[in-house]
Amino acid sequence: MKNPFVYGKIASGNAFTDREAEQARLAANIESGINSILISPRRWGKSSLVFKVSKTLAKKQSELRFCFIDLFSIRSEEEFYTAVARETLRAAYPKWRERLEAARKVFHKISPRITLSSAPANDFSISFDWKEIEKSPDEILEMPEKLSRELNLRIVVCLDEFQNISFFKDPLAFQKKLRSHWQKHTLANYCFYGSKQHMMTELFNSKSMPFYKFGDIIFLEKIPEKYWVSFIVSGFNKTGKNIDEKTAGNIAAQMENHPYFVQQFAHSVWSLTEKVCSPEVFSGALEQLLLQNTILFQKEIDSLTNTQVNLLKAICDNVTQLSSSAAMNDYKLGTSANVNRMKKSLVSKEILEISGNKIEFTDPLFRIWLRELFSS
Ligand SMILES: Nc1ncnc2c1ncn2[C@@H]1O[C@H](COP(=O)(O)OP(=O)(O)O)[C@@H](O)[C@H]1O
Ligand SMILES: [Mg+2]
Repeated sequence: MKNPFVYGKIASGNAFTDREAEQARLAANIESGINSILISPRRWGKSSLVFKVSKTLAKKQSELRFCFIDLFSIRSEEEFYTAVARETLRAAYPKWRERLEAARKVFHKISPRITLSSAPANDFSISFDWKEIEKSPDEILEMPEKLSRELNLRIVVCLDEFQNISFFKDPLAFQKKLRSHWQKHTLANYCFYGSKQHMMTELFNSKSMPFYKFGDIIFLEKIPEKYWVSFIVSGFNKTGKNIDEKTAGNIAAQMENHPYFVQQFAHSVWSLTEKVCSPEVFSGALEQLLLQNTILFQKEIDSLTNTQVNLLKAICDNVTQLSSSAAMNDYKLGTSANVNRMKKSLVSKEILEISGNKIEFTDPLFRIWLRELFSS
């Protein structure tokens, strides 16, 4: 039997749970032509959510065409424009012959180089002369709207890890350019998402920035435990195994309802379960995960100062007022300025995540591992 729990890739089909309200909100935005901005830490389910909504909507309304651009691997404006051109064409023309023909006709000010690749068969690649696009990027930036109008479509451009535009040479000028075109679009729709909360909020929620008020900002939360319980129980049942609700709840609770880690832990518990999940299997799976990560966690700790480790200890102990004199004394944290500096640096090292006044570990396993270390 195939393991029903999936992590490290888009959760779709049976591997997807909950997110009803977020799906409805995102779908309503797209249907009514409102742009969306989706923000959460890494691996909380942004890509999976957008993908799910795209599937549902595309099935219902054939004029809606989704294209996906992941800025994770895009490091320059040039690569960005190339991706927009390629993916918009791909969304507008699913048939490769038509796409090829369109690619040859659609550009007037710039001349693309188009090559048909053999693997995957009939796929195509497109590239431009940077000097040409630099002079007239508008031709590419107008493509989603123009093709939508010409073909009676509504192209939805989904831009993953959008905060990566900060790697571009002049991010602000780039944003201005993008905004000046895309704000006029009425048929094309844009959905931006990203994992660096601070950067995303700055891009879309700060008055001085070009993308201020560009769309509906959705802060994605974790998935509540009750959804995980039924998800995990039914994942086991469908594959001829059993787990009780309490243990399923424990899987979610240990991983603090973090979507990626709950799935990973459930995956591991499932594969160690023969027929019925016992308490031994549960703790065995947890031990196994911790063991797999030990070298990594040890390295992480070695890279920190003693005071930073003290701060992590305080957070493990659920201390909330880290800058109180009691906490600074008990855990030897230095001054409150020091505490703030350490928080920032642990966030930039992606060990901690701060949203509002809540501080969490990025990796719930690291927290468990640290707790064991501190108590031994
Ligand atoms: N709705 C969901 N239902 C079940 N698991 C999910 C869901 N969303 C995310 N996950 C889990 O979290 C992992 C990371 O999801 P992903 O969509 O890639 O997050 P992000 O794009 O925010 O980094 C997935 O591989 C899956 O294990
Ligand atoms: Mg993602």
